[in-house]
Amino acid sequence: MQSNEPAKPLPFHDPAHWDKMVATYEAQSQPFTTHFAEAAVALLPIGPSSKVLDVATGTGVAALAAARTGAAVTAIDFSAGMVARVRAHDVANIEARQMDGQALDLPDAAFDAVVSVFGVMLFPDWRAGLREMARVTRSGGSAAIAVWKSADGAAVHLLLSQVIRRLYPEKVTPMPCTGLAELADPDRLSAAIAAAGFADPVVTEVTRDFELSVGNPGEIEKLFEFMPHWSGLDADQSAAVARTFRAEIERGRVGDSFAIPSTALIASTVRR
Ligand SMILES: C[S@@+](CC[C@H](N)C(=O)[O-])C[C@H]1O[C@@H](n2cnc3c(N)ncnc32)[C@H](O)[C@@H]1O
Repeated sequence: MQSNEPAKPLPFHDPAHWDKMVATYEAQSQPFTTHFAEAAVALLPIGPSSKVLDVATGTGVAALAAARTGAAVTAIDFSAGMVARVRAHDVANIEARQMDGQALDLPDAAFDAVVSVFGVMLFPDWRAGLREMARVTRSGGSAAIAVWKSADGAAVHLLLSQVIRRLYPEKVTPMPCTGLAELADPDRLSAAIAAAGFADPVVTEVTRDFELSVGNPGEIEKLFEFMPHWSGLDADQSAAVARTFRAEIERGRVGDSFAIPSTALIASTVRR
C-alpha cells in the first residue's frame, strides 16, 4: 500500500552513514558479502594483466578477490571511512579512491572488467551508476553486478521488513529512488544492464544464510535505526516489531546464531 507521506532521505544515500558503519559492516556484513563477491569476481575473465574496477567497494571484498588474481584493481566508494579501510588492507595491487559511483572520475574504456556487489542498486540514480560502469569498460570487457533478489534486501533488513510487513503492512512502502526493488528481478536486471550499454547479461542466483549473532539482542536493534521502514514506525509500533523480531529469533536460533537465508542475483555481461 502506498503512503502519502513525503519520502524521507534514505540513510544509505549519505556517505556519513557508511562512515559510521565501517566497523559494524566489517564484523557483520563482510563475512557474508564475501561469498557473493567471490562468486561475482569468479565470473570475470581476469588475471595479472587485467585492470579491474570495483564500484562501491565497501570494506573491499570484491576488490580483494580480484586482487588475488594478480589484476590491478581500482576500488571506489563515496564513503571516506570505507576507502580508508580498504587502504588499510595495504594490498599493493589495490588503489582505493573516494568517488561517487554515479559520476566516476575515471576515463572512458579504462578497465578490462568492472564489478559492483550490492552497490549500484543503492544509488539514487542507479541507472547512471550502470551507465558509468559501462563507460569505463573497454569494448569487449566484462562486468559482474550483484543485487538482492528481494526488494527488502537481505539479512537483518530482510527479516525486519518481513516482520513490519506482517504487523503494519501500510508502513512497508516501496523505497524511493533505489534500484533495490527495480533490479530485484532477473528480467528487469538484464534489461537495465543492457540499457546501460552491456550485451547479453546472464543472471545466476546465489543463496547463503546470513548468520545473525543473537547473543546480544540490543546490538541487533541498534542496526534497525538505519533501516528505512523502521524509521516510519511510532514508539508503540517499534516496540511491537522489536518484540516480534526477538520472538522470531528465539524460535529459530541455534545456540547464539540465527540463520536468515538471503538470495542474490549476479549478472555477468560483456561491454558492447
Ligand atoms: C552494501 S555496501 C556493499 C559493499 C561491498 N561491495 C560488499 O559487497 O560488501 C554498499 C556500499 O556502497 C557505497 N555507496 C553507496 N552509494 C554510493 C555512491 N553513490 N557512490 C559510491 N559508493 C556508494 C557505500 O558507501 C557502501 O560501502
